[in-house]
Amino acid sequence: VFAHLAQAPEDPILGVTVAFNKDPSPIKLNLGVGAYRTEEGKPLVLNVVRKAEQLLVNDRSRVKEYLPIVGLADFNKLSAKVIFGADSPAIQENRVTTVQCLSGTGSLRVGGEFLARNYHQRMIYIPQPTWGNHAKLFPLAGLSVKTYRYYDPPTRGLNFQGLLEDLSSAPSGAIVLLHACAHNPTGVDPTLEQWEQIRQLLRSKGLLPFFDSAYQGFASGSLDADAQPVRMFVADGGECLVAQSYAKNMGLYGERVGALSIVCKSADVAIRVESQLKLVIRPMYSNPPIHGASIVATILKDRNMFDEWTVELKAMADRIISMRQQLFEALRARGNPIEDHFRTPGNWSHIIKQIGMFTFTGLNSEQVAFMTREYHIYMTSDGRISMAGLSSKTVPHLADAMHAAVTG
Ligand code: LMR
Repeated sequence: VFAHLAQAPEDPILGVTVAFNKDPSPIKLNLGVGAYRTEEGKPLVLNVVRKAEQLLVNDRSRVKEYLPIVGLADFNKLSAKVIFGADSPAIQENRVTTVQCLSGTGSLRVGGEFLARNYHQRMIYIPQPTWGNHAKLFPLAGLSVKTYRYYDPPTRGLNFQGLLEDLSSAPSGAIVLLHACAHNPTGVDPTLEQWEQIRQLLRSKGLLPFFDSAYQGFASGSLDADAQPVRMFVADGGECLVAQSYAKNMGLYGERVGALSIVCKSADVAIRVESQLKLVIRPMYSNPPIHGASIVATILKDRNMFDEWTVELKAMADRIISMRQQLFEALRARGNPIEDHFRTPGNWSHIIKQIGMFTFTGLNSEQVAFMTREYHIYMTSDGRISMAGLSSKTVPHLADAMHAAVTG
């Protein structure tokens, strides 16, 4: 009965890892998926995570019972504090409902389905471009997707005018997907002044913000600084949704641990919203897994462990920033200062201006294919590279490949 099925294409991001794994070359380099690697090119488990896991293993009173539909209560409470701030009025007034979900994707999916069932407007605007999974998951949740202008290829920066125009002409009540920080794939974020204008526009038109917060701490190294845009929207007393992921900032990728928060107008509404979220979650996956959320709760509960986490997080963010600098310098070193400021054509300054895990290089899909074929460098075909996958040792190889791709 399945013989008619065509072979489906690999996922544009996770499929890069599949191709990488098949390549026997000793010089191969995976800059596809956004996953942190050490200077030695190895995945990193944070020390504080190991410590939390040890505590959990040693605690014989812990059992493997089902969690409630909404997940681990401590995890939910503490996750809301991480994103909104411990002194957030919305938390103090019990206007926030937070449910544990399967990392960022699961949180977006549950939020999308909640909106499709319970909100009057089904239209969601996502930035152009955005993380590839957004355009796939929201229609399956029951929303219809439109895009708003975001990235400006000539400047490799933000098309702020286009963004304002497109959101101004969105129908009243439309949902707007915003990357809380470290926009994926472009690494281009609005300034705080621009965020303020976006906030005013959304509020004046009654548009509903839905934040995807997958990189809190990775943009600047500070959890609070990276949460500023979200907190601006919460401070005005209006509603918003936030999908949080601990994949990157705690390195818990495979544990699938994240949270969906919905900020409501009153405590009473928040209770009813939570009851509706349970109706979405129960038939989808019943209740979430216990281990990852227990690790996060253990760390967030303990002042020392929390501080240790922020130090390790900052070290990851700093290493990525230093990779940006090193790649920029390496490309410049391949330049001919007499003919041009950079011998490698193009102005590569966006590599150091963009923030977060990714650089949106501006390389096209043929150039990417060339780099994969000739240099065994794997990246998504839109020219995005995961800076977190680079190391001082591999920067020259990447710079050679980029130089050859743009000059060849
Ligand atoms: C990425 O964009 O590489 C990450 O968010 C991983 C993923 O799930 O796509």
